[in-house]
Amino acid sequence: MPRTTVHVCSQCGYQSAQWHGQCPGCEAWNTLVEERLAAGAGERRSGGSARGRQRLRGVGGASGTAQRAPARPLREVGSAPAPRMSTGVGELDRVLGGGLVGGSLVLLGGSPGIGKSTITNMVLGNLQQTGHRTLYVSGEESAEQVRLRAERLGPGALGVPVLAETDLDVVLDTIAAEAPQACVIDSVQTLRAAELSGAPGSVGQVREVAGRIMELAKAQGVAVILVGHVTKEGALAGPRVLEHLVDCVLQFEGERERPYRELRALKNRFGSTNEAGLFEMRQGGLVEVLDASARFVAEATRAPGSVVLAAMEGSRPLLVEVQALVAPSELEQPRRVVSGFDRNRLALVLAILSRHGRVGTGGADVFVNVVGGVRVDEPGCDLAVALAVASASCGIPLSGTPRACFGELGLTGELRWVGHPERRLEEAAKHGCGSVIAPRDSGGDACEVGTLLEALGEALPARERRPARAA
Ligand code: TYD
Ligand code: MG
Repeated sequence: MPRTTVHVCSQCGYQSAQWHGQCPGCEAWNTLVEERLAAGAGERRSGGSARGRQRLRGVGGASGTAQRAPARPLREVGSAPAPRMSTGVGELDRVLGGGLVGGSLVLLGGSPGIGKSTITNMVLGNLQQTGHRTLYVSGEESAEQVRLRAERLGPGALGVPVLAETDLDVVLDTIAAEAPQACVIDSVQTLRAAELSGAPGSVGQVREVAGRIMELAKAQGVAVILVGHVTKEGALAGPRVLEHLVDCVLQFEGERERPYRELRALKNRFGSTNEAGLFEMRQGGLVEVLDASARFVAEATRAPGSVVLAAMEGSRPLLVEVQALVAPSELEQPRRVVSGFDRNRLALVLAILSRHGRVGTGGADVFVNVVGGVRVDEPGCDLAVALAVASASCGIPLSGTPRACFGELGLTGELRWVGHPERRLEEAAKHGCGSVIAPRDSGGDACEVGTLLEALGEALPARERRPARAA
């Protein structure tokens, strides 16, 4: 049987028929990835078709083998906006930039149990109900299991045709025959290309599976959502290699035990990557959370250690509660536990607090939590974390609770301007958080301060009269 695959080193391009742990070319370890030999590759390399050769000779006998293609100035290239299919899930449509685009590939990543199958089921159900042809390919669950889930998601979801299959060729043939307008592959790590010997989910397999699905999707104009798992470290495992290939990378985040889920775009060829959508997992599937700020502010405890952060989620303002707990430590190296915020950033905020805010936490365990399982990673969160820790450390609630704030902390203790202050202030005012502590030049009727120390004076006026507990 002729050889159909080859092992290629991803570092130096060395090719070998067998797999080697160490590349014979560059001596790097574990870099050989199995790939399918392109059909007719040899033929093309040795001179192309007779017609091609003749044409080339006609234009002056150039030694190249490829056919010349005309290049056009960009202004002559048509720019019709890509037609969109609304998924029926408003938050997802917004993150995608207005809906699914025909012929596009979307990679949806997230840890197990986060709700990837649920949301994709809902999307296909909605599309099916609005008269689109759909197909749900499940490599993980049997058709019966998919049905059990769909029963919870309403009548639309039960109308979706399902294929429980892991063989790539069967899946491709089915897509070609059914000609769906939208198709979900759940998950890309479970499909297997028969030509490659690697296990499903290996880099070679995942690349091959996605590459061939993409060819078909582009040719037929199918909008494909590829579901992918992420590793414990939070990176898209295996599918990481697909990030370049696909048009859009969506990440589903949140904690399994908590009901809130956040959907973010990490890459989007058809829209912004700033958008994020918020969902809640309920009995009947994922429900969009449209009044998140109101909910988080109402839930804020207003106790020592609680602060409302006026954050930006993409282009949308969002008020979230940041909580801190500072307790004497019994460990030589006190604990720094953080959820929903960057751990290194916490270390920095604690250092600035102790150096420029006279709040020492050296001998104490510090816990910081962004309530509701929401993750905030924008520079505007620094001040909220600092005020929450300071308030927890001296056991005094912030003045005028629920007190909102935002701003980035500089290494010299200054409070720095952050983007969209007017939208943050507007949102805070709308939800009853008056007198927001904000950096200078934020405008509106914010309580503007220039340094961390001034912010602490505003938020914890009583602190000056009491010694810090955990210093
Ligand atoms: P699932 O979508 O299967 O997660 P993933 O495909 O990302 O691994 O579902 C995750 C969890 O959601 C599962 O533990 C059950 C729960 N769930 C609900 O709470 N309500 C529902 O309506 C559905 C369908 C699932
Ligand atoms: Mg699943």
